[in-house]
Amino acid sequence: MKNYLVTGGAGFIGSHLTEALLRTGNNVTVIDDLSTGRWENIAALESGFPANRFRAIIASVDDSRLMNQEVPKHDFVYHLASAVGVKLIIDRPVETVQRIVRTTDTLVEFCARYRRPLLLTSTSEVYGKSEAVPFQEENDVVMGSTSKRRWAYAAAKMLDEFLVLAHHYQSSLPVYIVRLFNTVGQRQSGQYGMVLPRFVAAAKRNQPLEIYGDGNQQRCFCSVLDVVDALLRFPVTPQAIGRVVNLGSNEEISIKKLAERVISILGSQSTMVYVPYEDAYGPGFDDMRRRIPDLRRAKELLGWTPKISLDEIIRSLYTHHT
Ligand SMILES: NC(=O)c1ccc[n+]([C@@H]2O[C@H](COP(=O)([O-])OP(=O)(O)OC[C@H]3O[C@@H](n4cnc5c(N)ncnc54)[C@H](O)[C@@H]3O)[C@@H](O)[C@H]2O)c1
Repeated sequence: MKNYLVTGGAGFIGSHLTEALLRTGNNVTVIDDLSTGRWENIAALESGFPANRFRAIIASVDDSRLMNQEVPKHDFVYHLASAVGVKLIIDRPVETVQRIVRTTDTLVEFCARYRRPLLLTSTSEVYGKSEAVPFQEENDVVMGSTSKRRWAYAAAKMLDEFLVLAHHYQSSLPVYIVRLFNTVGQRQSGQYGMVLPRFVAAAKRNQPLEIYGDGNQQRCFCSVLDVVDALLRFPVTPQAIGRVVNLGSNEEISIKKLAERVISILGSQSTMVYVPYEDAYGPGFDDMRRRIPDLRRAKELLGWTPKISLDEIIRSLYTHHT
């Protein structure tokens, strides 16, 4: 593999992936409409690599004419473009569903036409309200009601999964699906509801850390560097074709403990305040208590397990958070 197309490449995970692909000798084209991504995430790559190694196209992935031109020029497509972040999903539900479904529908059509392998980044949200932790890829999902807007993201991503798997079934298109669990690291924005960058930003200013709900909900946080390490392995892992693979950490921590850990590592004077879900996200918000990935498939197929601890991640955010 040499020429990679990365949709959403100016975003948090996409920019780290793009950088890693370039550093390992590949050529990369990024397509991003900068809706939640930032030009600064990739600006250094544009000045650091010649134009025949790195190109950035600011456009939407649902532009069929552009996809018809670009997809055939590449050997492998990573599809990360999406609406992301609980806050954005609650505030802009129409855009959420359209962005997720339209981009994947358009992209997979051209991947099928030119027979280009496609990796879709899906999400642990697909498991919905299931309490059968750790979540195994073949588990049934327990979706929340359609009147609760947060489930629109999960349902749209699930439709994406069905769509790319359908192409694999009908025409043997090489597809890969990864379900990412909470991924954190440098360049992640707290603007759309991501908890760790929000906590770090508040702790640095000695402002109160706002905990939504009772803070006993538990999550597992994985470094973006570990996630990228796993993503790089897919193009050379044909056994993963047509499979769904969880990627994340299984080190569990409550949100309350996470706040305490951030305050202590940063040596901050911040306090913690509890904000009811209704005040943070409006009435009728639904949340899940625990979300742990079963990582056996990732280990078996990719030989991958996460390596970077939560404390190391928090320390790296302390020095680099923007
Ligand atoms: N960060 C996490 O914890 C997490 C967890 C589960 C799944 N994911 C998935 O990983 C992927 C990357 O997420 P991220 O955290 O880097 O978020 P991000 O918002 O930083 O990245 C998404 C990128 O997609 C771009 N984009 C959105 N719509 C587009 C369109 N129509 N055309 C072109 N570009 C478009 C945005 O501008 C942004 O740069 C997403 O598919 C997301 O659903 C992330």
